[in-house]
Amino acid sequence: MNKKTVRAGIVGAGFSATFHYEALRKVYGVDVDIRGVYALDMDQAKSYAEKRGIRCFGSLDSLLDEVDVIHCCVLVAGHESVAIAALDRDKFAIVEKPLTGYCGDGSESFHGDTFPKEDALKHGLASVERMLAAEASSKGRILYAENWVYAPAIQRERDIIEKTGAQILWIHGEEAHSGSHNPTYAYWKYSGGGVMIGKGCHPLSAALYLKRIEGRARNGNPIRPKSVSARTHTLTRMPNFRDEGHIRRDYYDIDDFSMMHVTFEDGAIATVFASDIILGGIHNWLEVAANNHRTFCNINPNTAMQVYNPLDENFRDVYTVEKIGTKQGWTNMPPDEDWSTGYPQEIQAFYRAIAYGESVESDSRLGADTISTIYSAYVSAERRGAEVAVRTF
Ligand SMILES: NC(=O)c1ccc[n+]([C@@H]2O[C@H](COP(=O)([O-])OP(=O)(O)OC[C@H]3O[C@@H](n4cnc5c(N)ncnc54)[C@H](O)[C@@H]3O)[C@@H](O)[C@H]2O)c1
Repeated sequence: MNKKTVRAGIVGAGFSATFHYEALRKVYGVDVDIRGVYALDMDQAKSYAEKRGIRCFGSLDSLLDEVDVIHCCVLVAGHESVAIAALDRDKFAIVEKPLTGYCGDGSESFHGDTFPKEDALKHGLASVERMLAAEASSKGRILYAENWVYAPAIQRERDIIEKTGAQILWIHGEEAHSGSHNPTYAYWKYSGGGVMIGKGCHPLSAALYLKRIEGRARNGNPIRPKSVSARTHTLTRMPNFRDEGHIRRDYYDIDDFSMMHVTFEDGAIATVFASDIILGGIHNWLEVAANNHRTFCNINPNTAMQVYNPLDENFRDVYTVEKIGTKQGWTNMPPDEDWSTGYPQEIQAFYRAIAYGESVESDSRLGADTISTIYSAYVSAERRGAEVAVRTF
């Protein structure tokens, strides 16, 4: 078969745009032609483009003129408009997680602690509906960039579930570290919420995905979420928090600890924790308790490589693992962190979908159910953990 060429454009020039670019360079079986980048922050876009020898575009429209797919690597507040702009022109949109969000009413007085969370649910779902409608009337598609779905450990678990006909009774997962580096992360108005959406969406999407797989393998009907109970907390904003400099603490109006308890339509459960208060490097894991097996998916840290370094200074020029506080002593140092995290695999799958029409594991419906579960969870947290029904898409 002749290799197809796909023309790519990157929207956004920050953290996620960087790992998208690295993943793009690894795509095989499809020729990727990276046409350029566009971002609201033009200086950042220019230096991103210069560093990589690609073109910097002055507008989203001019970038869209030249590409088949855009990578939506912008803040949550811009996901819907960027994705719909692409879909309206029959282009594909790879949308970073979370699919979309409610970023407030735009008023000066908007504050994440105090606004009614029913608003987030209502407007968040309206945004999802607009994106799904744009996808339905486009020749392009939304490719939901949830790397946890493509993390090798999760894909191995998929294989086990499909081949053994497993029934998952409980999924238990977490994403946590000592605080996001991004200054905008502190504000609900940029990210559509706090840690429950920012980090919680990763293990939650993986849990929703695996229950879908279970149903799909058994009788073709994905098993969907039915209700959620949740609590959120603001631990680093407690007046008595004793700051010793290891944990970020300047959040303006977002939660830094969350727990979701999801029930599925078959009665099974998932418990999902997310926080910004965990020392020792990023902590991304998912446990599956099934009727015929039990699995720990240790995305990061994992023990593929363990390194002892007697002196921090020795490793001055050595990258070890995301968000670790020290390089001294023992470190679980992933031989290829991007690979364990699923970044290259998701981009590979998306380019095969664009070029050859192959199906994707992480699609707009999974992204939509994730948003619906999370904003229902915020409503629950506002009611101090009361059970709230989850609408599915
Ligand atoms: N999958 C992951 O592991 C992971 C990790 C970090 C961030 N993310 C996601 O990536 C997205 C972006 O986060 P980031 O950390 O890269 O942010 P960032 O602040 O590092 O970069 C954001 C970029 O988007 C640009 N931008 C913002 N709004 C825009 C708009 N409407 N149109 C065009 N450009 C716009 C900014 O100028 C900037 O270049 C978020 O959705 C976040 O949740 C995913």
